[in-house]
Amino acid sequence: MALRRERPRTDRPQAAHPAVELRAVRRSYGRGDSAVHALRGIDLALGRGSFTAVMGPSGSGKSTFLQCAAGLDRPTSGEVLLGGEEITALSENRLTRLRRSRIGFVFQSFNLLPSLSVQQNVLLPQRLAGGRQDRRLAKELLARVGLAEHGGRRPGQLSGGQQQRVAIARALITRPEVVFADEPTGALDTRTAHEVLGLLRQAVDEMGATVVMVTHDPVAAAHADRVLFLADGELADELLRPDPRTVADRMVTLTATSGSGRTGSGRAGSGQVGAAA
Ligand SMILES: Nc1ncnc2c1ncn2[C@@H]1O[C@H](COP(=O)(O)OP(=O)(O)OP(=O)(O)O)[C@@H](O)[C@H]1O
Ligand SMILES: [Mg+2]
Repeated sequence: MALRRERPRTDRPQAAHPAVELRAVRRSYGRGDSAVHALRGIDLALGRGSFTAVMGPSGSGKSTFLQCAAGLDRPTSGEVLLGGEEITALSENRLTRLRRSRIGFVFQSFNLLPSLSVQQNVLLPQRLAGGRQDRRLAKELLARVGLAEHGGRRPGQLSGGQQQRVAIARALITRPEVVFADEPTGALDTRTAHEVLGLLRQAVDEMGATVVMVTHDPVAAAHADRVLFLADGELADELLRPDPRTVADRMVTLTATSGSGRTGSGRAGSGQVGAAA
């Protein structure tokens, strides 16, 4: 279909590689006794065209994980690969270019520019990347998210759910390999959240995108193919073909046994989750 990448991009790594791979990724803030170990060694591969939800108690490292995986933050040690290419070794300039062309972002707070029209917001990543602005694709994406008639409005004239749908269209405009979303439904009511999740699901099923989404909501997580559970900066559990009930049960167990929110000094080394509880 029209929104799939029409031709193989020779500048991109081949299909044999996972869309995203993390190898022994650690991220610490500060040093010594007061250091916070937000990620304590994450090993993970996410296949192309997969939809992954990341859950865990507050402070367990979800946002840090997402930022490191998306090249917005650099791990203290370890490697992150996008389509087989190590991005942790790239210069700041190359990383910025890679983010603009190959990664899409959706944030809880939408992050639309209030002075630009809806359509200009959708086209912004292409403008920043210095490439051709594909107005036809922008219109097609806006139609897909149910906002065909709203391209000329300002974000301030839209509801929260509509703004998030614009943000999803914007994330997809460069036909990114991976879309990273940090609590994309955190500010939305249940029905609007359901619509937004349906759009992310569509991006995976119909456009071949890979989506990685942090969420606190078991119902949201159940839209994914796989749920990863973080606790104290480590991968504690995972669930395939999740349903809301099972996800909620796992979260209860995890929250009861993990010590997320404590500083690194409260734990010894890389002990198992729950070992210090
Ligand atoms: N810039 C920073 N400086 C120091 N510590 C930080 C920084 N950013 C995050 N942390 C710490 O790292 C740990 C993980 O934070 P992170 O934001 O990844 O958690 P989270 O799982 O996304 O939590 P939430 O569900 O509340 O958003 C926390 O202990 C947090 O306090
Ligand atoms: Mg967070």
